[in-house]
Amino acid sequence: MISLRGKRALVTGGSRGIGAATALLLAECGADVGIGYRTRERDAADVVRQIADRGVRAFAQAADITTPEGTATLFDRAVRELGGVDLFVGNAGIWPPDGVPLTEMSDAQWEETMRQNVRAMFYTTRAAARLVGPGGRIVLVSSTAGQRGEALHADYAASKGAMISFVKSLAIELAPRDVTVNAVAPGWVDTEMCAQPFADGGRDRIAAAIPLGRVATPRDIAGPIVFLCSDLARHITGEILNVNGGSVLCG
Ligand SMILES: NC(=O)c1ccc[n+]([C@@H]2O[C@H](COP(=O)([O-])OP(=O)(O)OC[C@H]3O[C@@H](n4cnc5c(N)ncnc54)[C@H](OP(=O)(O)O)[C@@H]3O)[C@@H](O)[C@H]2O)c1
Repeated sequence: MISLRGKRALVTGGSRGIGAATALLLAECGADVGIGYRTRERDAADVVRQIADRGVRAFAQAADITTPEGTATLFDRAVRELGGVDLFVGNAGIWPPDGVPLTEMSDAQWEETMRQNVRAMFYTTRAAARLVGPGGRIVLVSSTAGQRGEALHADYAASKGAMISFVKSLAIELAPRDVTVNAVAPGWVDTEMCAQPFADGGRDRIAAAIPLGRVATPRDIAGPIVFLCSDLARHITGEILNVNGGSVLCG
């Protein structure tokens, strides 16, 4: 039903987790796919192999997207290998797993979360906005934390909330160019990011508190991202799509 044949996709944080699942699903739908990652070269190479097995063009580029230079390296590679970018998925991000009350949060933690989640969003989305043409798609990965807040994780919640207002602003800015800008807001997802809270029975306790009774798989998040990249979603822009099993019901 969804065909992305001829589209050129770039996914940040594509070496594992939600980004890897998204890259593979985009490729299954026929898109050429480049992935960015930070350090996990072997994982990234494995994802590239799986993308290429689907008969489309693929590359992986190591680049720290919290810097303008790293961002330029990633996007230059996409232009060189694919000739441009039509679909941009801004997925890379961090979640500091140890909860810290704001009164004890260090300057360094706050700065690091903003650097990884907000500054990188600015650099990469700006680069994508400069590249994509009519019919282009930008999809960013926010979080339920950005919608409802998250006690002891005010830094992360603020960074993902910033993403939501950024998406809404950019949706209006890019609409005259026929480019849509949306976000997905996942709840708990089964990735390495959640290893700590899922340990020691935490995963089952968390699943029990989700109305649908389960933690999402990375592919559960990839599907809605790919939908937003597709022509089926061409009239949706500025949307924050809940993908959380019913745990937060707001846009
Ligand atoms: N997991 C959840 O429950 C959940 C819930 C809501 C929202 N989210 C959001 O979903 C997104 C993906 O989460 P995930 O759980 O799939 O994460 P993950 O498994 O921890 O993977 C993170 C990915 O981002 C890359 N990355 C991190 N910092 C980077 C940087 N500075 N430059 C380039 N690449 C960088 C990593 O590269 P390396 O592999 O090379 O390190 C990796 O590919 C994040 O934005 C996260 O906040 C996750």
